[in-house]
Amino acid sequence: MPESSLLRLAIFASGRGSNAMAILSAVRSGKLSRIDPVLLVCDRENAPVLEKAREAGIPALQILPKEFSSKDEYERRILSHLREKKVEAIALAGYMRLVGPSLIEAYPDRIVNIHPSLLPAFPGLHAQKQAIDYGVRVTGVTVHFVDLQMDHGPVILQKCLSVSPEDTEESLVERLLPLEHETYIEALDGLSRGLLKISGRRVVWRPD
Ligand code: GAR
Repeated sequence: MPESSLLRLAIFASGRGSNAMAILSAVRSGKLSRIDPVLLVCDRENAPVLEKAREAGIPALQILPKEFSSKDEYERRILSHLREKKVEAIALAGYMRLVGPSLIEAYPDRIVNIHPSLLPAFPGLHAQKQAIDYGVRVTGVTVHFVDLQMDHGPVILQKCLSVSPEDTEESLVERLLPLEHETYIEALDGLSRGLLKISGRRVVWRPD
């Protein structure tokens, strides 16, 4: 396949980086054969994902919002790095920050996110704890396009998981993670193959 047909992807992460690493290992194993991960962006100092990215051989950019006078200025600096790397799409992988208008306008319908619940249930932080506290018997994961609201844009893919009465926040986090990785890779494969079409709030998957 000519290199030009690969989707140049930036991964944004803030912490542990298991979704980021799952994406990189799917690229290596050929499961994400249309993706070229060209940059990892991290908004936190000393986040474990930075070291993992270096080990995995992907350029990692640590960029701290506190060093900028506004969110817009922070995002514009990120944009200059994305343009330098000719990034075409962005995967948020545990990026714990609301994406602002500068990035959304530069990448319309080209930013996706993974969230550990069946949205619209339990957006925001600690989705697994919210699910346990609410007492739901089924939860899951959602991959969606990103808009200006938190955990909100059109849904690309969802997968569900039964919650047992014995589950705790910790056990649910652990049991959901493999499902997150699997679902994110499937959704990113669809995106990179140009299979996703947004129609209002719906995402239509056209056959491969
Ligand atoms: C994941 O569970 C991801 O779904 C969640 O943060 C965690 C990051 O883990 N994201 C959100 O809650 C977004 N609202 P990771 O760093 O190991 O991928």
